[in-house]
Amino acid sequence: MSNIVIVGTQWGDEGKGKIVDLLAEYADIVVRFQGGNNAGHTMVVNGEQLITHLVPSGILQKKTCLIGNGMVVDPAVLLKEFDNLSNNGIDVGPDKLKVSEKAHIIMPYHKAIDLAREKMKGDKKIGTTGRGIGPCYEDKATRRGIRFVDLLDPEVFREKVNIILEEKNFYLKRYLSAETLDPDSMTDQYLGYAEILAPHVVNISIVMSQAIKAGQQILFEGAQGTHLDIDHGTYPYVTSSNTVSGNACCGAGIGPKEITGVIGIVKAYTTRVGKGPFPTELFDETGDAIQKKGAEFGATTGRRRRCGWLDTVLLRNSARLNGLTDLVITKLDVLGGLKSLKICTGYEYNSKIVHDFPANLKILEACKPVYETLPGWSEEISDIRKIEDLPQNAKNYLDRIEELTETPINIISVGPGRNETILLINPFS
Ligand code: GDP
Ligand code: IMO
Ligand code: MG
Repeated sequence: MSNIVIVGTQWGDEGKGKIVDLLAEYADIVVRFQGGNNAGHTMVVNGEQLITHLVPSGILQKKTCLIGNGMVVDPAVLLKEFDNLSNNGIDVGPDKLKVSEKAHIIMPYHKAIDLAREKMKGDKKIGTTGRGIGPCYEDKATRRGIRFVDLLDPEVFREKVNIILEEKNFYLKRYLSAETLDPDSMTDQYLGYAEILAPHVVNISIVMSQAIKAGQQILFEGAQGTHLDIDHGTYPYVTSSNTVSGNACCGAGIGPKEITGVIGIVKAYTTRVGKGPFPTELFDETGDAIQKKGAEFGATTGRRRRCGWLDTVLLRNSARLNGLTDLVITKLDVLGGLKSLKICTGYEYNSKIVHDFPANLKILEACKPVYETLPGWSEEISDIRKIEDLPQNAKNYLDRIEELTETPINIISVGPGRNETILLINPFS
């Protein structure tokens, strides 16, 4: 029996959605444990693309999908996603899609505060997705949050909204110079969502515990990436949740002894959306070529993703922080056609080589990447399904990643489609 956590190792958008969709075939339950609709996870099956922001990427494989207590959920977005999925013939009924009663709810004031704060910060903004993620987690930590259990009790919900909105409206108007919000219409709107969502709301910890007892397997789907983690990322240019594997337990309600493997998804190069340090970022035509060939635009906000070389300082940091047992390399096909490839093996700071990712942003910004150069390959590789058929230089690139990260690669993705994959070891076998 295997219960596996999948996390992003870089700054998000590594291709987690594709790999969760692929491996969900072997799982019974897929659960998301953190984040909200800041995530955009893309699945491509038989040429059809589907992007989910809240619903776990196991839904296409018809698995039971759980929205964990560690998530922050915008009910309007969730219902829109339900509509979109059911219009595509996918079952999102209460038997298939369950929401933790303890998950926190993103309210209109969270979005309004997120947007107004970013606007006020101007140049110093984080570059958030504007979905209200930070303000919602902030209320959770200060114990003013609203959870699904509260939403399902109209009296409690109305009272909570009335109390909270007094303070939020004061802050919106007086500090952020933004529009205030009306408690009654907000309450009515959300109680409407509650009626539809009520049958989905359960204690997901019990659902998972019963499944494990029955010998079923669980796949934990991370969102964002390790370097967007609130504790371990490039703070303050991070998201507001713990994205590392340890949070799978807390954000889903399961003990650590149940986890049998942790897979880190690695894009074959590096990308980042929004602001914040990025030592291997490219500002030249190679960066543009990768951006174009990789179609690097955000799946949530449509923003152009910043692109750069693979950074193994990041990857080693991820391997340690997540306890990675295996790696999956995605988008290897995108690097085809480049004469040579660079891998960052360390940073130079004050004439010394640094191998560990610095916490101090001033130091990180002053770090210059130290590169190793490897020859590239010109062949298109998206049709290849066996590792031995890859060009030798592609194999050398993968070998070097394994050496530098001291972690084995078990899957190689050579295109966005579910089938465009070289499966070396099935983590569920
Ligand atoms: P996630 O947030 O980690 O799930 O990643 P996104 O879905 O935001 O971004 C990954 C993008 O790369 C999506 O458009 C995927 O369809 C695409 N993709 C995933 N794997 C591959 C691959 O191996 N090759 C190519 N060319 N595209 C890929
Ligand atoms: P997936 O799951 C890439 C980034 C935002 C911003 C920072 C904070 O698709 O990999 P937030 O709205 O979370 O407060 O924004 O985090 N960010 C992501 N970048 N992929 C994501 O998710 C992201 N979710 C948030 O761009 O820089
Ligand atoms: Mg994404």
